[in-house]
Amino acid sequence: MKTTPPPPIDDRPAADEHMAVQLSSLRKVHGKGAAAVTALHGIDHGFPASTFTAVMGPSGSGKSTLLHCAAGLERPTAGTVVLGGRDLGALSERKLTLMRRDRVGFVFQDFHLIPALNVAANVELPLRLAGSQPDAHRLDDLLARVGLNDRRRHRPGQLSGGQRQRVALARALITRPEVVFADEPTGALDRASGREVLALLRGAVDDLGATVIMVTHDPQAAAWADEVLLLADGRLVDRLAGPEATTAETIAARLAALGV
Ligand SMILES: Nc1ncnc2c1ncn2[C@@H]1O[C@H](COP(=O)(O)OP(=O)(O)OP(=O)(O)O)[C@@H](O)[C@H]1O
Ligand SMILES: [Mg+2]
Repeated sequence: MKTTPPPPIDDRPAADEHMAVQLSSLRKVHGKGAAAVTALHGIDHGFPASTFTAVMGPSGSGKSTLLHCAAGLERPTAGTVVLGGRDLGALSERKLTLMRRDRVGFVFQDFHLIPALNVAANVELPLRLAGSQPDAHRLDDLLARVGLNDRRRHRPGQLSGGQRQRVALARALITRPEVVFADEPTGALDRASGREVLALLRGAVDDLGATVIMVTHDPQAAAWADEVLLLADGRLVDRLAGPEATTAETIAARLAALGV
């Protein structure tokens, strides 16, 4: 009897191995009944590991919702999010919380540092919450990387906005997360401080192999990314990739074409 052999392993569909995050038919409806708003209408996109992606689009287009769903901060209404090979929809609330703490880093526009803790303690916090022994070398390396070694005993209130965001970035990286999610990380900063933060995000990808997904309104910020996604009305309407397509001018022109 003739049987068909199973396909060799290499012929199987690459199970998103190279994707840090894979979104499939991602749909999100906020609210219920008459107040329901469909923020995402079915997004399919893979974010390759060790790359920097910018997410852009008009206000209300679903950027933050996409980021929150991809990071496991919000549960999608339908579709799947696979992060670091795990289907987030299959995780219990507790496992999802642990996943967010241990496998994902966050940088927000308004920093979200703990005012009572100094810089070193803020950066180490995710490890302490996980019950891990903070690694002194890792802390030193990250503080040096973000240029705050001499500020490690200062509290957030004693730092500039740019310095605070650099603390937040070091904190996001301390656990060597699968993905760093950044929602308007330069939104509250002047241009020079913003550039420093963007250069550090770029360096985290290039030197540390981090994967960064950043929401921004600013074409100059998005130009630091490898790929730019454009959202409109909860749909992925354009995708720019490669050095020629991801210049601030090209990005601004595509946004203008969308009426942003
Ligand atoms: N918690 C919520 N309850 C109800 N509607 C919501 C909620 N969060 C977001 N929305 C709606 O979903 C849509 C997408 O919102 P989202 O915050 O993702 O947009 P955004 O692209 O991040 O906008 P912005 O650039 O202003 O930050 C909007 O219409 C918004 O009003
Ligand atoms: Mg937003």
